[in-house]
Amino acid sequence: MPHTAHMTQPNIVDRPTFVSHLECAATGERYPADTVHGLSRVGKPLLVRYDLDRVRDVLSRAVLAARAPDMWKWREMLPVRATANIVSLGEVATPLVPVPVLGDRHGAVAPIVKDEGRLPTGSFKARGLVMAVSMAKELGIRRIAMPTNGNAGAAMAAYCAAAGIESYVFCPDDTPEVNVREIALQGAKVWRVNGLIGDCGRIVGDGREAMGWFDLSTLKEPYRIEGKKTMGLELVEQLGWQVPDVIFYPTGGGTGLIGMWKAFAELEAIGLIGPERPRMVAVQASGCAPIVNAWKAGADHAEPVANAHTVASGIRVPGAIGDFLILNAVRESGGFAIAVDDDAIIEVRDRVAREGGFLLCPEGAATAAAWEAALDQGLIARTDRAVLYNCASGLKYPMPPADAAIDRHQPIDWAAIR
Ligand SMILES: Cc1ncc(COP(=O)(O)O)c(C=O)c1O
Repeated sequence: MPHTAHMTQPNIVDRPTFVSHLECAATGERYPADTVHGLSRVGKPLLVRYDLDRVRDVLSRAVLAARAPDMWKWREMLPVRATANIVSLGEVATPLVPVPVLGDRHGAVAPIVKDEGRLPTGSFKARGLVMAVSMAKELGIRRIAMPTNGNAGAAMAAYCAAAGIESYVFCPDDTPEVNVREIALQGAKVWRVNGLIGDCGRIVGDGREAMGWFDLSTLKEPYRIEGKKTMGLELVEQLGWQVPDVIFYPTGGGTGLIGMWKAFAELEAIGLIGPERPRMVAVQASGCAPIVNAWKAGADHAEPVANAHTVASGIRVPGAIGDFLILNAVRESGGFAIAVDDDAIIEVRDRVAREGGFLLCPEGAATAAAWEAALDQGLIARTDRAVLYNCASGLKYPMPPADAAIDRHQPIDWAAIR
């Protein structure tokens, strides 16, 4: 039976995809599409390649403008072949929200926040996981496992539940409580591990044989990056087919940064933009800044950091398998990597909420703190058009207490209320 249009997601209809093959990100070795893959033979991430000449014939600015605004409008350059395998939970295009309270304080053009907290499961992880789980369904995978700092596991659990795929999640034992509970409630088996995300990743790797699961760790399968790249496609279209001057991205595993960099190259190859690129800024927390250390050292790969700690749990990733791809994108773009302290992250989170009404997640707040630090240090100009990624809803994280109370049976002291 042909799949007909979703009532609310008109882009979930039969359209061709122009996937041609997969390619090792390190060696360029080719791999066939349409079969199950993890890492390449040399243990590096695989990237999905498309016949972009054919995409170019089909996708024009006008065709895209006529489609509803969501990530599935880019179907020709996404990997899922059969429409019935798309396990959508209503992925929306996320808004661009200027934050004047930041611009005004510095006499700068207000940075624009791309608010990814509006997606299903409240984070941008939905983009990557809807793609990876849809592809798992397409390729007949029945059981999946992943290590997570919280949001990725929540998205995986939700999409696996929707797809009828069994899922196992391993997270550090201090992962935000809401994440652990949402993962469990959305049907995954979730385990708290007394270690960091790398330790959780080792459990997933070690269990492959005994448990027969597929390892969905960041960049250890090829499709999460394809979902994440829609952040870049969507951004450029929303900006009227222009790239911003600079993008601040909270970098853990770096899938989003790598994905956006891939998106810009593909947009150029299909003639929708020229060679212009934004400067890509990898934002990390001072307590866990392997990419920043490598950037400063001029290294191609990052040394894992010991004792990683930060309130921005999503970017507490001591070692990233795609480190060379992150560093390459940052360098090629003329960008930089920058670390910010937890105090600065919380201070700006609280200030932007109180004075601007925008509740950033700590990782999103890290990009705002980095934007302020970069202005101070002269790394960007006050006239630069900057985009900050707020990767999750601020509602998912601990907030300062608010426990003022009124006894309605007593006279009210209005002076105390003012
Ligand atoms: C809220 C949030 N921001 C940023 C990140 C880091 O994303 P990436 O792996 O693309 O670097 C994560 C990942 O867990 C996250 O949950």
